[in-house]
Amino acid sequence: MNRIPLRPAARTLQIQVLRHNPHDPASEPHLQTFEVEEADTMTLFIALSEIRERQDPSLQFDFVCRAGICGSCGIIINGRPGLACRTLTKDLPDRITLAPLPAFELIGDLSVNTGKWMRGMSERLETWVHSRNLENLDIDTVEQAMEPELAEQLYELERCIECGCCVAACGTAQMRQDFVGAVGLNQITRFQLDPRDERTDAEFYELVGDESGVFGCMTLLGCEDMCPKELPLATQIAFLRRRMVCSG
Ligand code: SF4
Ligand code: F3S
Ligand code: FES
Repeated sequence: MNRIPLRPAARTLQIQVLRHNPHDPASEPHLQTFEVEEADTMTLFIALSEIRERQDPSLQFDFVCRAGICGSCGIIINGRPGLACRTLTKDLPDRITLAPLPAFELIGDLSVNTGKWMRGMSERLETWVHSRNLENLDIDTVEQAMEPELAEQLYELERCIECGCCVAACGTAQMRQDFVGAVGLNQITRFQLDPRDERTDAEFYELVGDESGVFGCMTLLGCEDMCPKELPLATQIAFLRRRMVCSG
């Protein structure tokens, strides 16, 4: 007789969350444990939503898209940075410890201000196409055809969702507040490759040719290991460093 295999019993997950409200002088950082019944295809985002709905409405964490696109749900999951909405609980042990991403301003519990950090980095590195005579150009000139291979290369670098996981995974970023991180160096590579950007290699060198930029990277590789979009960050940094050495 054929037996229908029994489904394994649902697990009860012990989810430990590092709680802290930096705006409340009485708040002390502490771990709080919640129990959650695991469901099929449960993500950490779903588990956290259940906790907030049924157990503690004050729990703070960020999300927007729930699809790995907006980059807002980055957290530390059992010691490693990752996206809550793309992490299945079935891939984790029964006990799960969650903490906010380090290196970013803490808003509360698991919520950090990656937007402020990214905006600061972006303004500092001027991450937009610089064209010297824009007033003399018409739209057809600006949008000149690009080789498909180059367009593909730029598209690949633009897949970054600014989640901050590479910054949280980087030892240099923890030690140097001014380090632009793999995300910043990825942006510089993107604009240096773009033929519409007329900045010279020397001008790019001015932006990242020191220890807060490409020479601060110690090739620790955490950025590339933890990037949820699997961007080749260490390869990009090596490419940029070689180009900087030649132009410096
Ligand atoms: Fe996130 Fe990767 Fe972009 Fe870093 S490079 S911010 S890890 S998507
Ligand atoms: Fe940091 Fe990545 Fe360099 S982890 S030290 S930016 S290779
Ligand atoms: Fe947008 Fe997770 S909620 S990436």
